Amino acid sequence: MSSPHSPGTHAEPGTHPGPAGTRSAGVPAEPAPAAVGRAVDRVDAPAKVTGRARYAAEFPYEDLAWAAFTYATVTRGRITAIDTAAASALPGVIAVITHLDAPRMKPSPKPNPIRSMESMATATSVDYLNTPEVHWNGQPVAVVVAEDPETAAHAAESVAVTYEVLPHSADFAAEERHAVPQRNSVIQHASGTKGDADAALAAAPVSVDLRFTTPRHHHNALEPHATTAVWDGGRLTVHDGTQNIHWLRSQLATKFDVPVGDVRVLAPFVGGGFGGKSMVWPGTILTALAARVTGRPVRAALTREGVYRSVGGRQPSVQRVAIGAERDGGLTALIHTSTAPMGKVGGAPEQITSVARHMYGAEHIRHRQYTLGLDTLSTTNMRAPGESIGSFAMEAAVDELAYELGLDPVELRLRNEPSSNPIDGKPFAHRQLTECFANGASLFGWPARSFEPRSMREGSSLVGWGTAAAYHPAWQLPANVTVRLDARGRALVRCAFHEMGMGTATAQSQIAADALGVPFEAVTVEYGDSGLPTGPGAGGSAQTASVASSLLEACEKLKKSIGTPREGESYAQLLARTGRDHAEAVVGSETRVGKRVGQVRFTAKYLREQRRWMKAACGAHFCEVRVDADTGEARVTRWVAVFDVGRVVNAKTAASQLRGGIVMGIGQALTEQTLLDPRTGRIMNPSLSEYHVPVHADVPRIDVSWLDDPDPTMPLGIVGVGEVGITGVAGAVANALHHATGRRLRDLPLTLEKLL
Ligand code: MOS
Repeated sequence: MSSPHSPGTHAEPGTHPGPAGTRSAGVPAEPAPAAVGRAVDRVDAPAKVTGRARYAAEFPYEDLAWAAFTYATVTRGRITAIDTAAASALPGVIAVITHLDAPRMKPSPKPNPIRSMESMATATSVDYLNTPEVHWNGQPVAVVVAEDPETAAHAAESVAVTYEVLPHSADFAAEERHAVPQRNSVIQHASGTKGDADAALAAAPVSVDLRFTTPRHHHNALEPHATTAVWDGGRLTVHDGTQNIHWLRSQLATKFDVPVGDVRVLAPFVGGGFGGKSMVWPGTILTALAARVTGRPVRAALTREGVYRSVGGRQPSVQRVAIGAERDGGLTALIHTSTAPMGKVGGAPEQITSVARHMYGAEHIRHRQYTLGLDTLSTTNMRAPGESIGSFAMEAAVDELAYELGLDPVELRLRNEPSSNPIDGKPFAHRQLTECFANGASLFGWPARSFEPRSMREGSSLVGWGTAAAYHPAWQLPANVTVRLDARGRALVRCAFHEMGMGTATAQSQIAADALGVPFEAVTVEYGDSGLPTGPGAGGSAQTASVASSLLEACEKLKKSIGTPREGESYAQLLARTGRDHAEAVVGSETRVGKRVGQVRFTAKYLREQRRWMKAACGAHFCEVRVDADTGEARVTRWVAVFDVGRVVNAKTAASQLRGGIVMGIGQALTEQTLLDPRTGRIMNPSLSEYHVPVHADVPRIDVSWLDDPDPTMPLGIVGVGEVGITGVAGAVANALHHATGRRLRDLPLTLEKLL
């Protein structure tokens, strides 16, 4: 199943250790077997299991100092006094920086994807430590720098802050009625209509009209946010666990008013992100500030609590899903609305209702999102932002309708499978949801299910089977790539993309190997360094296809520049025969103007494509839950999911991504919620002991498979596997719980006290 060799250690950015097994391999005589599609071991696995892989808080520096933050304890206020004497007096404390003495930084740019993609990295509008104003309970109001992390943490807690408390509201329930319609943007359809859904709903012979609620969520990546910042004169080097190296570089250059070229961001390994590491949060900026003030290399590794205080989480939501149908199950009306708060200082609205545009062939559709601001930290994107919680409501509502109709929930979905994109009639580039349901139902044994709730009891367990559809759109971002092939058959791919644990470097090695006709083991990939050609952010499940698009183009350019090999000759052999050491090809420009032109061209082509096709991944979930009839404890005991994700590049890492999404969805369904005190805006459970992510005992065997049919409109047919896995999961669990118990729960998480 796995490849015999793992090339490249990828342990150090900017170095090129090369594949140990191929150094002396010479020119391969045989054409390489196709690498794409195989279940290949990760190229970064040896570095990870041997500890050579270094994360942001692990790069050694002489004279390293440590930073820790003092977090505000009021919802909204103004600092009237800040006493740093006790903190400063602690042995080992180097500096205590507050708004009274922090050097001025430039304000962050306003997020505007049209004017600048990089501006999207602005997490909040707050001028950290350049203002006495407090905008959320948890905002950093002081930075302590000390000789060791323990002293820094202790000193940060010794800073005494006095506030004038200002009027505030962090109470979503109280403010919900003040929500306003969210505007559509180039990156998000917040509303849309087809026909007259309200009239159709009123006239429908069968209907459901339901209210769902979902809580705040936090990302809880394995590696909490960490930054190591080093100034060398006016040049800044930052090691940071980031999902977007170039956005971060650009933000830091703006904040510290230095040329972009004088900032280097290194992120060879990131221990998970899930969207929490896409934006630039105060910890990163203030660590760079602390390094500047003290003239020392400074490191801050946030505690888990620090992540909750200073990194945004997913929006909570209130949703309405109303569906009208004919008695045969044909949908006539589909209404999906949502209300979700952001921070007054910023936030990423999730596209909660976008599933209503694409999933079901209703004659009349209306969807709309409402937002409001609270005195809290900005919200931010979290895995399948919008679709994950939106599909919970949609898929649970479809299941409720199926029971109103007396129809099998799979059958109801099949009867409403659209032949084109429901909201606007655009052709699907690719959609095999019907096949996913057919395969999944048969793998799971769905036909043996009895329709009636509470009808599959086994001993003291109420057994329930649930199903739901998965859906996530396919996106692409621009990427610059260089490829080099030498006369010995070794290939080098360079692009500043991200490895957050999903196997990106492995996938790109596979793609390059096939495109160049060299063995997988002969490819080395350099990534994770802003000194490399500008890569895409790792978000929107778009990274693999985005890099692949430019990589394939670069490989074609490269081969063209080498010439036409003779019969049976490889490109490397042709290089050797013609006395050339190597050849190289570049896609994309790194100059300011070149990047801008590239961005405009990319966007124009991308928008053309988006107007022409509806591109998405989809899938079908099937799960079994067992509920203890006496205690109400619910366990997910079996999972089968079949996906249509276009071409799968690496069968091993793709399966992992899809499983990981399902695991996260099980957490969303049963346990995860960030509890925010509505009176104070204080997060009450900022730790893994009180915010419950699934552990091994909570996760059953998960069978994932895919149809492996390339999307004809995407590079190599790749659609993206990062986010589709979580969509529909909470809906499937809710539906299974209903089947087990007869109870409909519409408020996440689906905890036992709600079941009893
Ligand atoms: Mo994702 S929420 O685009 O990391």
